[in-house]
Amino acid sequence: DWTTKDYIKHSVQTIRDQVGKERVLLGLSGGVDSSVAAALIHKAIGKQLTCVFVDNGLLRAGEREQVEKLYADHFNIDLRVVDASKLFLKRLKGVSEPEAKRKIIGNTFVEVFEKSLRSVGGAKWLAQGTLYPDVIESVAIAGNPAALIKSHHNVGGLPDRMKLKLLEPLRELFKDEVRAVGETLGLPREVVWRQPFPGPGLGVRVAGDITQEKLNVLKAADSILQHEMMASGYYWKVWQSFAVYLPVKSVGVIGDERNYADVISLRIVESRDAMTADWARLPYDLLAKISSRITNEVRGVSRVLLDISSKPPATIEWE
Ligand code: XMP
Repeated sequence: DWTTKDYIKHSVQTIRDQVGKERVLLGLSGGVDSSVAAALIHKAIGKQLTCVFVDNGLLRAGEREQVEKLYADHFNIDLRVVDASKLFLKRLKGVSEPEAKRKIIGNTFVEVFEKSLRSVGGAKWLAQGTLYPDVIESVAIAGNPAALIKSHHNVGGLPDRMKLKLLEPLRELFKDEVRAVGETLGLPREVVWRQPFPGPGLGVRVAGDITQEKLNVLKAADSILQHEMMASGYYWKVWQSFAVYLPVKSVGVIGDERNYADVISLRIVESRDAMTADWARLPYDLLAKISSRITNEVRGVSRVLLDISSKPPATIEWE
């Protein structure tokens, strides 16, 4: 009967035995699995680990800074942040079809990630936060949208191309065990209990074609939503809560001026596994506060909608 502490001790020893004095690379997404893998491997081999974080320009407000603060400053991990936001936005310019956007984002991610790994040089290992369910489901990823959360940051083929050995210290664990390991290693609750976030990020939450201006509006609105969800405690009770930028304008009024401006939709759902979901019945007062803060504080937003669709027939994301 293993406790989390025993597991960590055993795992640290296994990683040391496997890796010896060689260097390890890890693609950090900021999600639970890659974060726990990073903390665990760092505990085992310290400075032999280098983490690479790709800023694709589609991250939420403050996300990159939070990653830098936690891993570089707090854990003292060798972290390389690659700012590729201009490249992603250039390639996405004028593209509005969801699958086309996903493909561009996925391909660009693999390209940027591989290039940045090569620039680090000298590593023999690529570490991934693969969990036990990923191992058994990897055959069936196709029909399972939830497995997409993984596939985006699991760069198939790359270890072979780069002649890297795979290090997967979470391979035997389920999600709840990974969270327990993360908590014991001192990762904050914001990381360990973080809501899922899709690999294509805000790229699939700006409905239609993506511009920097639309991203800025969405980030500001989303940040208010997250803040209020955290402050009220509902962030921890729902499966996902996020804002979506709609490709439509609507008339509003500021003072006695007509204001033809953007529309934001709130998507807040409850779910067990993302296969089905239902919209969360939040208190009206909380929704009112979120709505009035967004229309008052985010320039260019005149209207806030609440998405009351369940999955199926809708999906959680809009695209
Ligand atoms: P849907 O929208 O299909 O989403 O109900 C189910 C879960 O998967 C996430 N999701 C994605 N994750 N890449 C990802 O890594 C994607 O392309 C993608 N699409 C959806 C979504 O956030 C939800 O948790």
